[in-house]
Amino acid sequence: MPTELTGLTELTGDALRERIATELTASRRRTHALTTDVLDEAELSAQHSPLMSPLVWDFAHVGNQEELWLVRDVGGREPVRTDIDELYDAFQHPRTERPRLPLLGVAEADRYLGTVREKAFDVLAGAPLAGDRLTDQGFAFGMIAQHEQQHCETMLATHQLRAGEPVLDPPTAPVPWAPLPAAEVLIPAGPFAMGTSVEPWALDNERPAHQAQVAAFWLDTAPVSAGDYAAFIADGGYHDPRWWVAEGWAHRQRAGLQAPLFWQRDGDRWARRRFGRVEPVPLDEPVQHVSWYEADAYARWAGKRLPTEAEWEKAARYDPATGRSRRYPWGDADPTPELANLGGARLRPAAAGAYPAGASPLGVRQLIGDVWEWTASDFTGYPGFTAFPYREYSEVFFGPEYKVLRGGSWAADPVACRGTFRNWDYPVRRQIFTGFRCARDAAAGEGA
Ligand SMILES: [Fe+2]
Repeated sequence: MPTELTGLTELTGDALRERIATELTASRRRTHALTTDVLDEAELSAQHSPLMSPLVWDFAHVGNQEELWLVRDVGGREPVRTDIDELYDAFQHPRTERPRLPLLGVAEADRYLGTVREKAFDVLAGAPLAGDRLTDQGFAFGMIAQHEQQHCETMLATHQLRAGEPVLDPPTAPVPWAPLPAAEVLIPAGPFAMGTSVEPWALDNERPAHQAQVAAFWLDTAPVSAGDYAAFIADGGYHDPRWWVAEGWAHRQRAGLQAPLFWQRDGDRWARRRFGRVEPVPLDEPVQHVSWYEADAYARWAGKRLPTEAEWEKAARYDPATGRSRRYPWGDADPTPELANLGGARLRPAAAGAYPAGASPLGVRQLIGDVWEWTASDFTGYPGFTAFPYREYSEVFFGPEYKVLRGGSWAADPVACRGTFRNWDYPVRRQIFTGFRCARDAAAGEGA
């Protein structure tokens, strides 16, 4: 199997330490921009939805994880404070319980984060960046930067659910866009290298690299748009059990689903609430805030299906010219604002057809960024999976109750998004920044 190349593997010594420091600093800047910079103590302590933690829990939790892994584990330093470990252990307290916990106040949590960060930087200055799986290429530091950025995405979901005056303002600069040459792309049959054994900060569930077989199939060039999704609604899609799997139909009826979360009727059009502002639904934008059941029903209505996880990854990484799997659709280079909508600042996906420079070699667009994409696949370990650094990171979630999401959303940071990155959630979830694209089998002789 051809080997992969990655930018991060080439960094060593001071250059690697500098990259780690940059990532940690960027994640903290973003944490503050979503918490103490924009909301007061009352808002940060409130639970804006039973689905989410109070923001002040996320805030102190990222610091506590940093203390556990970087200060205590990698650094071997004295604990900053052990009395709060239990409060901020996600497995001890479900989100619904968190508002009633004796959480740190905002100022105290802020001081705690500062103290931990100072010690983590001190550890970084002298830590070996090789020697075991936790320290190799700064893995633990990369894991913690990703963890904080993932919580920033979760905090954005809380902001989206929050009622009240808007506090977040997006930039309005246009994004690169070009018409789609075709609605679908043919992905050829054959094996490809799925997952990774060399990406330094890849998490346990992305490993190891292994050969996967995929039959030829057609994949939508862009994610399904809000306009296309509105056509499904207008055609009675929410009222026709033919399109829904049995559990999905039962859930649709029980939950009274009529449209994506945050959509509302406005005369004969659709409007949506987005970060406290009500606006017409942009019909050219990828649809967001649909459950797996809704995505699956749409696909069946359209005469298609959701892609499997292996199909999605082959479309995103496989380069037919070399037979190699690349880090991203556009190649091995890290994401830039010209290539993908990541990082959270825009507060929305870009129109379908955006970022032509970020297309895969076969021409599939927006696989990275914009919206997480539901796949048909259950979350499981790859052949040869080993849990690391702890079982609760991924392994305890393996099973048919979780569906895999791929590609990252506009709210995901580049450090926590790559061609191999895997996310998972319950098929009923809608508050995450999730859409989908459709696939269909190729006919005999196509792409063989
Ligand atoms: Fe966490």
